[in-house]
Amino acid sequence: MANESNIQPNTAIDPRDLRNAFGTFATGVTIVTTVEANGTPRGFTANSFTSVSLDPPLVLICIGKSAASLSVFCDGAGFAVNILGEGQEDVAGIFATQRADKFDVADWHPGKSGVPLIDGTNAWFECSREQVVEAGDHIVLIGRVNDYAYEQRAPLGYVNGGYFTLELERSLVEAASRTAGTIIGAVLAQNDSEILLHVDKESGKLTVPSTETCSASASPAALADSLSEGGLEVSLDFPLSVYEDKKTKNYSIYYRGTATGKVPEGLRFIPIEEIDFDKIEDGAMRFMLRRYVKELRQGRFAIYLGDEYAGETRQVEEKSEAAIDV
Ligand SMILES: Cc1cc2nc3c(=O)[nH]c(=O)nc-3n(C[C@H](O)[C@H](O)[C@H](O)COP(=O)(O)O)c2cc1C
Repeated sequence: MANESNIQPNTAIDPRDLRNAFGTFATGVTIVTTVEANGTPRGFTANSFTSVSLDPPLVLICIGKSAASLSVFCDGAGFAVNILGEGQEDVAGIFATQRADKFDVADWHPGKSGVPLIDGTNAWFECSREQVVEAGDHIVLIGRVNDYAYEQRAPLGYVNGGYFTLELERSLVEAASRTAGTIIGAVLAQNDSEILLHVDKESGKLTVPSTETCSASASPAALADSLSEGGLEVSLDFPLSVYEDKKTKNYSIYYRGTATGKVPEGLRFIPIEEIDFDKIEDGAMRFMLRRYVKELRQGRFAIYLGDEYAGETRQVEEKSEAAIDV
């Protein structure tokens, strides 16, 4: 018994998988900046920002030991944290690279202490270096806030390796759901490997379950209720796609979510590699589902906004593995 407490279970943690698990925690996005003794501005994109204390006013940021600017931050007198807003994905992308001209392509001005403040952000905090704490493959840099400014604007978010915004998506979904004739649908996955689809008995045509096929009123809750009547457990998560049918002027809003349990009549969980896309008549639905399957495999999602012919996918530029820290 005495030795048992010393026995550690073999919890071999796969760092890639752990990073994916950490990535489920949604954060904002910042650019942390500083300046070298010779006046060269340095900075990188970071989502590890945390407010720590009000009195004294402290914040922290974690810097990977492989960051080229690590020593400049550890040795420098201070730094600034710039909180990015909706629409600043480009600048976030640039500062997540090691390109030498980051500060030539971004608009910025020096703060009181000389550290660069990125223009057009939602907030910035100018800090002096308070403490540097060793922590595994990162260092934790704690700063004391000496000056700050902010504006209440929609933030830029980051989750599961992709950027997201709240305001635009919410307003589009709200606008669409106020329109008569709006169809709400749900792309529901089970174990990330099968999708619930309506299969027409005679033709074998496939459709995504919706308020139209379920004869439910046009709300996500009504669709979930209707699908779960027979014992299916349904969870609708984020909007996946919003588009307008140019002919009927109807909006279709598709949510993504999960389902498990007893499948209602007419519906079937189909393994993603067995989905016959030719059996999906509606072009927009086919496109959405193809994109969904691709993204399910990659483990990341974007919202699609547009009409049934053209649209924009609001994701999330592809980033190299090396550029993504957490
Ligand atoms: C959304 C996002 C968040 C990131 N957060 C951090 C972070 O908190 N800490 C970190 O060290 N790197 C983070 N990175 C990675 C750095 O931005 C990246 O490694 C950058 O190249 C470092 O710059 P440097 O090597 O020129 O110093 C993040 C990248 C992205 C895209």
